[in-house]
Amino acid sequence: MPYLMRDVPLANRVVMAPLTRSRARNSDLLPTDLHVEYYTQRASAGLIISEGVWISRDAVGWHDVPGLFTDEQVARWKRVTDAVHQADGVIFAQLWHTGSASHPDFFDGRPPLAPSAVNPGLLSPTSSGRQPTVEPLAMSARDVRQTIADFARAARNAMAAGFDGVQLQAGFNYLISQFLNRRTNVRTDLYGGSIENRARFLFETIEAVGEFVDLRRVGLKAGPAWSETGEFVSGPEALAESEYVLGRLNDYELSHLLLMGMVADPAGGPLEDLAGDGMFRHIRKVYQGTIIANVGFDQHRGNAVLTDDLADLVAYGQPFISNPDLPARFASHAPLAEPKRDLFYGPDAAGYTDYSLLEG
Ligand SMILES: Cc1cc2nc3c(=O)[nH]c(=O)nc-3n(C[C@H](O)[C@H](O)[C@H](O)COP(=O)(O)O)c2cc1C
Repeated sequence: MPYLMRDVPLANRVVMAPLTRSRARNSDLLPTDLHVEYYTQRASAGLIISEGVWISRDAVGWHDVPGLFTDEQVARWKRVTDAVHQADGVIFAQLWHTGSASHPDFFDGRPPLAPSAVNPGLLSPTSSGRQPTVEPLAMSARDVRQTIADFARAARNAMAAGFDGVQLQAGFNYLISQFLNRRTNVRTDLYGGSIENRARFLFETIEAVGEFVDLRRVGLKAGPAWSETGEFVSGPEALAESEYVLGRLNDYELSHLLLMGMVADPAGGPLEDLAGDGMFRHIRKVYQGTIIANVGFDQHRGNAVLTDDLADLVAYGQPFISNPDLPARFASHAPLAEPKRDLFYGPDAAGYTDYSLLEG
């Protein structure tokens, strides 16, 4: 079933979710020939969202992830997007800044930059393993302006690299979420305090990106909550605040909202109504544009949310790791291969480009 996402025609409604795979094992954080092969193998997805890519050096917070902030990175990504287009695929770049979810090991010992000096209580995947996060440095007003400009430059770079659009990583526990979250943002300037102020960073980023990229090609990955870890624990105000933020997205003609269902069990808490498909049922009324449903879907449940009109597209993460031709498998109801979890994050072609296509 094809779909028109603003002005971008998609051949089917099966989206490849953004997947960090830590294969950029070079000091310049360049995508490699392996990336070309990996994404081309998956070009039959209606839409590929790339792994998260760094908007700047300061954004780094996961080992061996490629960037989009140098000319060489842009040139290397162009090889990926050319190959995907050659195979009739559509690919957006996910723009990522980890903020306080990073670690001093990525910055020669300096703590990462974040909205406020609040340790988010997470683990950071460095090249020497997962390490506890530390108290970050609070961004100055200048840092905030620079970071917004970095998002805009990375978006411009993504288009120069031939991507069909970009997706801002505004979910999980990363920088944009850290601004939105009242526990990790205790700023006293225009970017902190009320939810209107905490959302200012997001909306100024969207507007800055819009200076360079048609907003119909700019999507977001976001949602009210996800795993409820560290300082990312929803309070009684969480749902109303999310409704405010997601509702204001309607003011822009954006490409899409990739909406994550909850991983944590919300039973008995303030987000109880968002359990299971409750997330999509609820947010469908709040956000009027294209919604891509995600987290834990199989073909059956994916088709059900489309039939019930709770979403327009469905994103699959882990199934795409081990089934490069997932749409063809769905079409023929073929069995799915299981991903090798110990090879999710590297180091080489094993568990990355060696999953087979359906026979015949
Ligand atoms: C190995 C792996 C890497 C991931 N990397 C990213 C990422 O770079 N950006 C992002 O937004 N989500 C990332 N995710 C989350 C997925 O996009 C998706 O939301 C999640 O896997 C749930 O979908 P699934 O149940 O179909 O796998 C990652 C998930 C996995 C398993």
